[in-house]
Amino acid sequence: MARTRLVAGNWKLHGSRAANRALLEAIVEAMGKGASAECAVCVPFPYLQQVSGQLAGTALAWGAQNVSEHAQGAYTGEVSAAMLAEFGCRYVIVGHSERRHLYCESDAQVAAKFAAAQGAGLVPILCVGETLAERDAGITEEVVARQLDAVLSKGAFSSAVLAYEPVWAIGTGRTATPQQAQAVHAFLRKRLAGEVRILYGGSVKAGNAAALFAMPDIDGGLIGGASLDAREFLAIVQAAAKG
Ligand code: PGA
Repeated sequence: MARTRLVAGNWKLHGSRAANRALLEAIVEAMGKGASAECAVCVPFPYLQQVSGQLAGTALAWGAQNVSEHAQGAYTGEVSAAMLAEFGCRYVIVGHSERRHLYCESDAQVAAKFAAAQGAGLVPILCVGETLAERDAGITEEVVARQLDAVLSKGAFSSAVLAYEPVWAIGTGRTATPQQAQAVHAFLRKRLAGEVRILYGGSVKAGNAAALFAMPDIDGGLIGGASLDAREFLAIVQAAAKG
């Protein structure tokens, strides 16, 4: 898969029908004018119906933020990959650090979710990243390699997206420098065969996006807080379209 730049919004636990409508309208309208990078929004499950209706026929793709590793059964509260595919989801975030840390998802569970997503024809966005303590201990590469290898050991990474998200940069306003991010991206790329897109995530804003996207191994961004503000998100998309 060619490394076309991708900017994906991760809405996390935010949104309402009215706010979503206005946000999506603003993004789609601006995307229709001028050059744009490939772009997606990953929304809470209850809004998939709304998003699939409003975005049908537009260039803005959509996805979910989590998926069950199971196809069906007695798993209260879970959502399967086939259900997401039915809603027209293209992407699903897998192994976000909030899932790993707040909901104790293991590397093995993340790998099973990744496989379930691919099996249903979705494009998983696999998140990897180290905590501040791990960075300070000098084991960043060891941590991200372990997280990635858990998935690679189950099969090919074909047509998936990787996102490097240092945990200390998520929602903190503290971004990795372009050089710090590039170093990890280059390390990750060496472990992957073929043309895999590697996004950077962690406090990406309109003001720092261009410098990050200028790095040779950064193929776009996974955007949390800034994806809830149409102007900010669009400025990031523009920065990706230019590079
Ligand atoms: P942030 O979140 O942009 O708010 O730091 C990124 C993410 O968690 O994907």
